[in-house]
Amino acid sequence: MNLTLSFSQLAKIEADALVVPVFEGVLPVKLHPWIAQLEASGEFKGKKGETEVIPQPEGFLAKRLVLAGAGKESAFTGTEARKWAATVVRSFKSKALKSIALVTGSEHVAFVAEGVVLADWEADAHKSKKDPSCKLEAVAVVVPGGDPSLEVAFERGRIVAEGQNLTRDLANEPGNLLPPRVLAERARQMAADNGLQCEVLDETKMRELGFGALLGVSQGSAEPPTFTILRYEPAQAVEGVHLGLIGKGVTFDTGGISIKPSEGMEKMKYDMSGGAAMIGAMYAIARLKPSVRITAFIPSVENMPGSKAQRPGDIVTSLAGKTVEVLNTDAEGRLILIDAITYAKQQNCTHLIDAATLTGAIAVALGSVNCGAFTNDQPFMDRLLESSRTQGEKIWQMPMDDEYKEMLKSPYADLPNISGGRYGGAITAAKFLEEWTEGTPWIHLDIAGVAWLDEGKAGLAKGPSGFGVRTLADLACKWR
Ligand code: BES
Ligand code: ZN
Ligand code: ZN
Repeated sequence: MNLTLSFSQLAKIEADALVVPVFEGVLPVKLHPWIAQLEASGEFKGKKGETEVIPQPEGFLAKRLVLAGAGKESAFTGTEARKWAATVVRSFKSKALKSIALVTGSEHVAFVAEGVVLADWEADAHKSKKDPSCKLEAVAVVVPGGDPSLEVAFERGRIVAEGQNLTRDLANEPGNLLPPRVLAERARQMAADNGLQCEVLDETKMRELGFGALLGVSQGSAEPPTFTILRYEPAQAVEGVHLGLIGKGVTFDTGGISIKPSEGMEKMKYDMSGGAAMIGAMYAIARLKPSVRITAFIPSVENMPGSKAQRPGDIVTSLAGKTVEVLNTDAEGRLILIDAITYAKQQNCTHLIDAATLTGAIAVALGSVNCGAFTNDQPFMDRLLESSRTQGEKIWQMPMDDEYKEMLKSPYADLPNISGGRYGGAITAAKFLEEWTEGTPWIHLDIAGVAWLDEGKAGLAKGPSGFGVRTLADLACKWR
């Protein structure tokens, strides 16, 4: 799809459809005589989701003038503008129109560009025959009489959404086509294309360094593990800050010896969505060039029940030297994350954010609406929550009381990898991770509920959502 920004007057725009947002009760009656009639009859009010098509509108070069309801003007935030644009684009894609122009105000240019790019993504990478109605050729974002300086916002929107779509591409790949070494290769390619440094630690190197918790998970698979490091170093970096982004990269999670039920197991190909989110965020960061130093760490394994697989009851020694009793081999995400947390600290990261499809319990608690967030540093969390609000990625902060830590007791090792009961499972998982942060400011995002959309929503296709990229990119860009 060819996406452009235009400052032309509406009458001069050539497109199959010229789409104008209409706010509730404020119909642009001067645009076309039919609109005055619509207002008089009350047939079109401008409510969200309402559309009215005016074919061959006189005085316009466009083939159709489309009124698309945008709801109350006072409630039309950037997030609403993104959803408006995305919903419009998806509805026209299914009608097989080839070119559309979306009219917007200058304050929403980035959001509308994002909406368009996100709406264009489909989970059809492995369909040999793509649905021809699903191919939009050209979309123009139109700000009549707009200032050329809007190009910057427009490009920012496009880049962030491209990062999010990269995350969706990766998360959509099945386990056979994207084992750890392929995930690492994809990250390496992205880094090479966008001027980031990339280093991939292999199994031998990890053994030498002592990644015992991660290697315990990977030993049941014929696929070797990888540990990918992406480095972004700005020319003039904010002093004393080094942000570490850690993403869970389990390319397939069978559960291991504590095997999962077969129903729904196919979805466990998205258990690397945290890693994919960090790769997508690093793409955006590489191009937007924020002034803070950032390194991403993507521990990647396949969790399989092979003959060499770790057993329940096995005790592993993590990179930090602390021992873990593996009571349940399906609680593997936390095992690979703790070695990544320790490694990131050894690399002198001052602030850590991890994203992981860590627990089914977070989906029980928050559904697929909010991502659960946990921290040991409230001011850091407040920064992230602010970015999440402006980016329209809903995040709900969860409690971290010490009582939850008391649920993690092993008679045989420093910690067990699960608590005795199922209650509070997302929180006990976070308390487990916290032990390895040793006071370094840290945020844990449990994206298990939000990383995959079982139903398409607000202009996003069903499938991987690419959750987290927009918030992380925004956080990075606002850091001063
Ligand atoms: N990858 C799963 C978590 C998950 C579940 C993600 C459903 C997305 C949807 C994780 O590795 C896991 O299996 N967690 C267990 C933990 C339990 C054994 C304490 C879970 O949530 O059941
Ligand atoms: Zn698991
Ligand atoms: Zn998992």
